[in-house]
Amino acid sequence: MNPTDARALAVAVKELFESAHRTLRGSAESTLVSRVTEHLGCPMTEIPNVALHLPSFEHVNLQRGVDAYLAEHTPEASWFGISGTRHFNTVIDMLAESANSGSHQLGAVDYTTVATGPSTSTEAVQIGLVCTSAPDGSPVVLGIQGAQDDHHEQRCHLQVLAADRATAAVVRDEVDRLTREHNIFRGQVLSFGMSEHHGNQLLTFLPRPALRADEVVLPEGLLTSIERHVVRTAEQTAVLRRYGQHLKRGLLLYGPPGTGKTHTVRYLLSRLPECTVFVLSGIAMIRHLRATTALARRLAPSVIVVEDVDLIAQHRGMEGNPVLFELLNEMDGIGSEADVTFVLTTNRVGAMEEALTQRPGRVDLAVEVPKPDTECRERLLRLYSSGTPLDLPSADTVVEATDGVTASFIKELVRRAVLRHVDQGGTLDGAVVHDVLTELMAEQQTLTRSILGGR
Ligand SMILES: Nc1ncnc2c1ncn2[C@@H]1O[C@H](COP(=O)(O)OP(=O)(O)O)[C@@H](O)[C@H]1O
Ligand SMILES: [Mg+2]
Repeated sequence: MNPTDARALAVAVKELFESAHRTLRGSAESTLVSRVTEHLGCPMTEIPNVALHLPSFEHVNLQRGVDAYLAEHTPEASWFGISGTRHFNTVIDMLAESANSGSHQLGAVDYTTVATGPSTSTEAVQIGLVCTSAPDGSPVVLGIQGAQDDHHEQRCHLQVLAADRATAAVVRDEVDRLTREHNIFRGQVLSFGMSEHHGNQLLTFLPRPALRADEVVLPEGLLTSIERHVVRTAEQTAVLRRYGQHLKRGLLLYGPPGTGKTHTVRYLLSRLPECTVFVLSGIAMIRHLRATTALARRLAPSVIVVEDVDLIAQHRGMEGNPVLFELLNEMDGIGSEADVTFVLTTNRVGAMEEALTQRPGRVDLAVEVPKPDTECRERLLRLYSSGTPLDLPSADTVVEATDGVTASFIKELVRRAVLRHVDQGGTLDGAVVHDVLTELMAEQQTLTRSILGGR
């Protein structure tokens, strides 16, 4: 056999084997794979795996980042989806599998709903791909995959497919930048936690409270000094930066339950309409502390509210340290140039004192929110009875009689008096309020009283 014949035979045998291989494993034809490889101009096996993985709650931002990228580079691009089994499979796995066996074909795009505000949402691609181009014009395919509910790892993914790794990395970094730039969390009030109703959504948008200063009844000057500490203008920020002074601040509000610590925080939030706010409460916050501080730094100016910090103070965190220490470490590690304010509230400051004195500088203003004095109780009575038919002058003895109760107690007192008045008719005067007060104070109300913070 001459060399030419031998070569021809070898080629023929090779083709025979390949054809047999294809026949044995079924059709390897995949409309999905060809859509990708035709755009990129290279076979599946040569496409490097470049991806960006983000926490699942960033899905909305990833979508916004990709949308912004497409708007700039290929505004006419349209998404395509994948048909076939997708459980526990990443986009790149599905493509690779399909290139081998034709297991996945072109299909409809999977969409999911993601929140964009307290009462707004938008569609985001759950599984889908789109053909676009790199800044240098070379072809690129982007894939988005939202977190899978039944997957232990709650992350969403961006897959960047290009003929070479460098191009893919450039596009990945640009989408990453746009994802941060278009972050929908900026300037919002957010709470970290689990939601039973929306799968494993970790971040919830809360409406920003709207409270006026006259709705917060505190001793003269107290609210102003709290406000001055936290609310800083962009101008002051610039000056502090210029003189090399740190921006971060820590406020601790302490006092008995029902005196208005949460109420004061809500007022501060309404005075900071531009700030990104993270509200952390309960044990759930432990898991999210690090993610929250990282986000807060990125979305500054921001405020991190840790409510009832005594409840978590004794718990052990991820690394076995008391959570309070982890919190204080995070507060310290946030970096002095970051415009981030920590606002902590507690009913039991004693439980925190040692930790706070051992690590000075984290909390630079600690304010007691006391039970209301005579003047405050009078203001509270007026505040909570405005809009009700209560005859205030006849009720002024109530102010003396409520010495030692909390603000929320007075609010409840007025509410019950109004209910009594609705039930019984007649006039709503001091006598009715005193009746209700006697009841509230009575022995059988012990439980309610301790919940409401009576004396
Ligand atoms: N100082 C206050 N001024 C006006 N209302 C108050 C005040 N303190 C409490 N309240 C009322 O009582 C409710 C419960 O108080 P809250 O702020 O939750 O108490 P705390 O956080 O100190 O336990 C508030 O939502 C508000 O309606
Ligand atoms: Mg509270």
